[in-house]
Amino acid sequence: MMKSNINRRNFLQKSTLISAGLLLSTTGLFSFARNVNKASNNPPISYSKKINRKIGSLEVSAIGLGCMSMAGVYNPPQDKAEMVKLIRNAVENGVDFFDTAEVYGPFYSEEIVGEALKPYRNKVNIASKFGFSYNGNNVTGRDSSPQHIRSAVEGSLKRLQIESIDLLYLHRMDPNVRIEDIAGTVKELINEGKVINFGLSEVSPETIRKAHAVQPVAALQSEYSMLERVMEFDILPLCEELGIAFVPWGPLCRGMLTGRFDENYIPEPDFRRAGVPYFTPEALQANLKVTDLAKEWALKKNATPAQIALAWLTAQKPFIVPIPGTTNQNHLMENIGALNVEFTNTELKELRTSLEAIPTIGFRNPESVFQNL
Ligand SMILES: NC(=O)c1ccc[n+]([C@@H]2O[C@H](COP(=O)([O-])OP(=O)(O)OC[C@H]3O[C@@H](n4cnc5c(N)ncnc54)[C@H](OP(=O)(O)O)[C@@H]3O)[C@@H](O)[C@H]2O)c1
Repeated sequence: MMKSNINRRNFLQKSTLISAGLLLSTTGLFSFARNVNKASNNPPISYSKKINRKIGSLEVSAIGLGCMSMAGVYNPPQDKAEMVKLIRNAVENGVDFFDTAEVYGPFYSEEIVGEALKPYRNKVNIASKFGFSYNGNNVTGRDSSPQHIRSAVEGSLKRLQIESIDLLYLHRMDPNVRIEDIAGTVKELINEGKVINFGLSEVSPETIRKAHAVQPVAALQSEYSMLERVMEFDILPLCEELGIAFVPWGPLCRGMLTGRFDENYIPEPDFRRAGVPYFTPEALQANLKVTDLAKEWALKKNATPAQIALAWLTAQKPFIVPIPGTTNQNHLMENIGALNVEFTNTELKELRTSLEAIPTIGFRNPESVFQNL
């Protein structure tokens, strides 16, 4: 059972075991990348050539597309026509798993995704999220009361121009509503055909278990990357135990793992890297050593650091589906190309040993996984 007063040493011992477990259980996980060329400059492989991943009742491409920053966040809101083009380009190159949320914009990301995917409805899987209240376009707080969930879902369906949401996540836990009541409301929406699968985001193991007892949870979406590895403590093993897919957000650590920033980078004050503890000048200096490691491996594997970061994630477990976010066509193609990168078990062990030897700054404490964010 989960306890909030976890002894840190136990955690560290456990983390070593879990790391070992992750490494041992990666045997044969690379079926998704079988028979493909490694060169990063090759055209992206066709997804039909690799094995898709399961999320509840869905079968999805092993790498999805995050559509948050199209509506702002790391950059100003983007031109709708351009983003529609980008999303359609992703579909044409085999991506069939798209991530959005009511709060992105708010509302604008769902509008873009809805318009872009309208011609492809039967070929793609759309994930969205609820959990916030608004006054106009301003977020006023969290609200996952049953009535509010229902009205949020009606709004999402309309903007997404679909009859049912393939995967609907609780975005952030509402401390004023029992998780059983939230899961119960989503269960009703599933029975009504408005939602197909239920997901959670950034919640504790206790919340996951309680929700799962009411309505099976298809996916957990939380931050996970080569840099932010806190999910390896109790969360990934729990997902494995319960058969829950894991969808890492921030798989490129908000761009840090791509090599686009050096230690002089100062986050733009209006966007969502400012104030993030792993982007302070001191933290950057330490954390970019992990990017250097990704660069080293990129050279070895004829790939790019972003591709190494994404391939590393998909290699950890067969139920992991990263959703790198981008507003840039070239980055999109580069990220899809991560499916061309294959690691042997020996390489994975070597990479993990190197990773664990690098001290990083600004990431979550293991104890924090026992709290809902
Ligand atoms: N559940 C949650 O609470 C939660 C929180 C945050 C995000 N999300 C979801 O997860 C998705 C991904 O997370 P994220 O966007 O926060 O972080 P991310 O995917 O780790 O990083 C996105 C950043 O990396 C840049 N980037 C992407 N590919 C690149 C490449 N090949 N080379 C250079 N730069 C590249 C993007 O800029 P460009 O646009 O210039 O490519 C963007 O600034 C989001 O889109 C959203 O759907 C969920």
